[in-house]
Amino acid sequence: MKTAAILVTGGVGFVGSHFVRAATDEGRRVIILDDLSGMGLATNDATPQLAIPDGAALVRGDIGDEALIESLCRQHSVSSLVHFAGKIQVGESVRKPELYFDHNVNRSLRLLDTVREMGVRDVVFSSTAAVYGEPKTVPIPETAQTAPVNPYGCSKLAFEWILQSYAVAHGLRYAALRYFNAAGAHPDGTLSERHDPETHLVPLVIDAGRGRRPPLTVFGTDYPTPDGTCVRDYIHVCDLASAHLLALDQLAQGSSLGALNLGTGRGYSVRQVLEAAQDVLGAPIPHTVGSRRDGDPPALVADSSAAQRRLGWQPKRSELKTLIEDAARSRA
Ligand code: UFG
Repeated sequence: MKTAAILVTGGVGFVGSHFVRAATDEGRRVIILDDLSGMGLATNDATPQLAIPDGAALVRGDIGDEALIESLCRQHSVSSLVHFAGKIQVGESVRKPELYFDHNVNRSLRLLDTVREMGVRDVVFSSTAAVYGEPKTVPIPETAQTAPVNPYGCSKLAFEWILQSYAVAHGLRYAALRYFNAAGAHPDGTLSERHDPETHLVPLVIDAGRGRRPPLTVFGTDYPTPDGTCVRDYIHVCDLASAHLLALDQLAQGSSLGALNLGTGRGYSVRQVLEAAQDVLGAPIPHTVGSRRDGDPPALVADSSAAQRRLGWQPKRSELKTLIEDAARSRA
């Protein structure tokens, strides 16, 4: 008999591809469903050659395509869902909320209903620190008030509520993993962070340091933080991947987990990231100082003690220097 497979939506993306690698390295069977829009491709563009690890298969398609999901579940004995696919740009979500509610809520709900009808009970969902909005205190525990300040955060929180309601009504077991700042890359350098357009600090800093982009703009130096720049909790993407695997195992053993923060509990300012990158690259990072970016809270740092306790999880590669070294290697 074929072993049951994990259906992984968005498995070609940054966090998704690291999860697929970690899962297949452990011998798990994975079916990736991805529309490749994260690579900047439209539906009718040809499918490029992609390196998919042994043990995984890529199906190009839409998460809202019920007939496709149904046939994948049947064909591959899908037993669990890891749902990464979604729209992730805060600024875009403010301009086009309809896109965010359509992808992150409507289509995600169709996906959830379809897999549930096919007997899937275990779901791990990519959520975000954006559900907290501008937190009153840091580090932020899961019990902090959720008050998203943009449609992206609202759409992710809405889907968390759907999962919670389905857990009560239908016995669904789930983990909504609230990522803080995902960064880094697999240490072998073969997977990397590529968003189109790239807006994230770590890849921008590395590319600016290598002269491949214009100087970085530091968004605001007048925040109420020790050096005036925003503080974030950078978590290595491989540590995120391992948390998803541990969550799947817990769900399979019968416990639903609810929302869990994934971060390190330690925050670094934009200036500290620039300094660490300068040490790693051995060259100053060209940068200028600009004004604040809309919607940036001064500090976001996770209290991840619940994830550590409930998953038996510890970040292993999230020390800032290691994370930047791994990111730099992957962008060589
Ligand atoms: N930053 C700059 N210059 C840049 C890019 C970023 O100064 O060119 C700063 C930002 O202002 C922020 C920090 O670097 O203070 C990190 O910015 P990122 O864009 O890398 O990440 P965010 O903290 O904005 O975003 C993360 C997640 C989102 C999530 C958000 C919650 O990537 O998915 O946290 O606020 F929604």
